[in-house]
Amino acid sequence: MPLVCWLGHLLAVVGLVLQPAGSLKAPCPIPDITHGQLEPAQNFTSGSTATLTCDPGYVPLGATSTVRCLASGRWYPRVPSCIPGHCSYPPVIDHTDRNPQREFPVGTTVTYFCRHGYTLLPGVSPVTTCLQNLTWTTIPKLCQEVQCPSPNIQHGREMSPRKDEYTLGQQVELQCEPGYVLRGSQRIQCWSDGTWRPPVPYCDKVCGPPPKLTNGQITSLKTELFLYGSEVKYRCVEGMSLIGDDSIYCTSDDGVSLAWSKPAPECRVVRCPRPMVERGRMTPQRFTFPYGAVVRFSCDEGFVLRGDAESRCLADSTWHPPLPSCQPVLCPQPHVANGRLNSTLDGKMWYQTNETATFECFQGYHLSAMSSTATCLPDGNWTPLPKCKKDGDADACEEVHYIKAAFECGVPIAEVKTLLEIQKLLLEVKKLNVELQNLNK
Ligand SMILES: *[C@@H]1O[C@H](CO)[C@@H](O)[C@H](O)[C@H]1NC(C)=O
Ligand SMILES: *[C@@H]1O[C@H](CO)[C@@H](O)[C@H](O)[C@H]1NC(C)=O
Ligand SMILES: *[C@@H]1O[C@H](CO)[C@@H](O)[C@H](O)[C@H]1NC(C)=O
Ligand SMILES: *[C@@H]1O[C@H](CO)[C@@H](O)[C@H](O)[C@H]1NC(C)=O
Repeated sequence: MPLVCWLGHLLAVVGLVLQPAGSLKAPCPIPDITHGQLEPAQNFTSGSTATLTCDPGYVPLGATSTVRCLASGRWYPRVPSCIPGHCSYPPVIDHTDRNPQREFPVGTTVTYFCRHGYTLLPGVSPVTTCLQNLTWTTIPKLCQEVQCPSPNIQHGREMSPRKDEYTLGQQVELQCEPGYVLRGSQRIQCWSDGTWRPPVPYCDKVCGPPPKLTNGQITSLKTELFLYGSEVKYRCVEGMSLIGDDSIYCTSDDGVSLAWSKPAPECRVVRCPRPMVERGRMTPQRFTFPYGAVVRFSCDEGFVLRGDAESRCLADSTWHPPLPSCQPVLCPQPHVANGRLNSTLDGKMWYQTNETATFECFQGYHLSAMSSTATCLPDGNWTPLPKCKKDGDADACEEVHYIKAAFECGVPIAEVKTLLEIQKLLLEVKKLNVELQNLNK
């Protein structure tokens, strides 16, 4: 070893030994601790102790949190670190289970569930949280035994003695008062959520059995329950007629009780006599005339129907409206202006078909047609009646000329029309005058 090196080594050893105790007091470094710090907050000198304080929600890792500053400037034991805190197992709550966690770091929430047969009390929260001070938020009583209220059923009751409340799984059978029928399940069970399953039934009003029909039967009996609106139809045995409505239905007059809309119809043998209308025909052609049969009538030519054209066979075996009759067609007494019937014998009010009437004109008039007679037609009208014209009919010609002149003078068409209407009125007045004269004769 060279001398210089040896000397240097010696000096170093001497220096170490000679160093005074006081000057060896070196401060310990302030450690940088995540989520915590050493306390008290001061310059740490050799021999001082410090305690690790973790931030809320954190805890010191290791058994001890107190450290000492050594003369070497190191901490002993080593400064622990702060780790996230954990809560212990959450409290056990009666009649509950919870989700199956095992670790509960600060901030963890745990949800409780009521066990079968229990329900959550109203207004409570089944959740607890691990707080920063590593305790759980307090949890009140959470669950109560399931209880179903006594099923309330109008017009019905429980078959077993009534109880105010029922517990999980209990069953109840229900029945309705007479006149009501149970709609829904007769047997219900108290369910774990405090409700009944199937749902509580209700009692519905019903009609009694529908009235029976002698000599007939109900054709549409689908059910034994006759609820509001149910309808039954009746039918009679072959050869019998159904009198009345063929169906009735279950209804309510007072809004409270139910009853059938009508009594049952009747089955009877109903035969109306064959309808006979002289000089008439019947449609449709048929040979028996049971209740309800409808026939129509018409008359032979030259005859007219008096009464209703249609008639129906009623329950009392009569026709309604009454059968009509066929009366011969008659023509009314004919009138001819400015003339009269030749024969006074002919002066009757009505004429039969094929009868003729003969006319003659008044003095100063003449017959315009070839024939002086008219014949009564089978439809009640006359063949065209003859006309009586004035001998040398000047009046009419005068008027025609007047109107023609008006046209030629260029009188506006509207005025000509008015003029013509006045002419028409004048002519009608004349005609009335003539008729008056005839009457006076
Ligand atoms: C720590 O030491 C420094 C400098 O040596 C000084 O200024 C400070 O006041 C001391 N702090 C405490 C808390 O003693
Ligand atoms: C924990 O903290 C909560 C709310 O901050 C408080 O109500 C409770 O008393 C604390 N528990 C303890 C044991 O300190
Ligand atoms: C009117 O009747 C009489 C006798 O009844 C007859 O002589 C005369 O010719 C008849 N006149 C006409 C127009 O038929
Ligand atoms: C009317 O006369 C015609 C022709 O002569 C005849 O066919 C008809 O049957 C007559 N009518 C009556 C109702 O007498």
